[in-house]
Amino acid sequence: MSEFASRAITSNQTGIHADIPALVAKYWQHEFLKPVAEHSQAAFAQVAERLASFAGPLILDSCCGVGESTAELAQRYPEALVVGIDKSAHRLGKHVFHKKASAHCGEYILVRADLNDFWRLAAAANWQPKRHFLLYPNPWPKKKHLGRRWHGAPVFPAFVQLGGTIELRSNWPIYVGEFALALACVGINAEVRQLPEQVEPITPFERKYQASGQPLWQLTANLAGANLVAPENIEYLAQHAAELAESGEGVLKSAARNFALGDARGA
Ligand SMILES: C[S@@+](CC[C@H](N)C(=O)[O-])C[C@H]1O[C@@H](n2cnc3c(N)ncnc32)[C@H](O)[C@@H]1O
Repeated sequence: MSEFASRAITSNQTGIHADIPALVAKYWQHEFLKPVAEHSQAAFAQVAERLASFAGPLILDSCCGVGESTAELAQRYPEALVVGIDKSAHRLGKHVFHKKASAHCGEYILVRADLNDFWRLAAAANWQPKRHFLLYPNPWPKKKHLGRRWHGAPVFPAFVQLGGTIELRSNWPIYVGEFALALACVGINAEVRQLPEQVEPITPFERKYQASGQPLWQLTANLAGANLVAPENIEYLAQHAAELAESGEGVLKSAARNFALGDARGA
């Protein structure tokens, strides 16, 4: 095995988790009241202060790890303020500032915060990121850990309310399919595709997965106008999810095709 080798995800789930529509509906209707950690509040205040005097667009790079993608995004969008957020001081401490920086590099900040707090604070402050990247979040592949995946967590409504154009990447197609289903529950159609094999990696995890030949998946969506769909549509999605969970087939095709409520139901 090379030093980059990485095993594909194994899980006791063969398809998407059927509980997603019920979870999304529950969390959408109940405020997430967990107290905010002090360090998250401090990180939020730091970014808020910078934003107050910044005239350009805001871009979030959530779960940024060592912040390689954050620097890359600042290069790609020099007019923006790019904020990388991660809970791991260890990972953030490994950031290499000089690597991607150039004369054309925009501004970026890396902060340590728990996104369960940071997204809620940012949504409450009505931040409106133009783009929001979520690159290779922890998959939590055990079936019983659905609640730890972002789309199965109580903070999901805050993530959605932040809005913007989102880009999620993962090496686990089920994660991406589930995310598309969760977005369908709030009326958002997502586009799902496989990343080209030779795509230039922008994070260490992407590089590692690519080097071991794993297919990588990308979901993009615009979150404008998101809102919980009617109860009968949640029911429809739950039923559909249950069928998909059992068949375990075509997770991504279904995500792209069938989660679009309007098309599927002739609405
Ligand atoms: C699989 S790593 C991916 C890191 C980076 N995006 C990459 O692709 O190299 C997932 C990252 O999510 C971060 N993370 C997990 N839960 C988090 C949370 N609740 N708040 C902030 N960061 C979190 C972890 O610390 C870790 O750095």
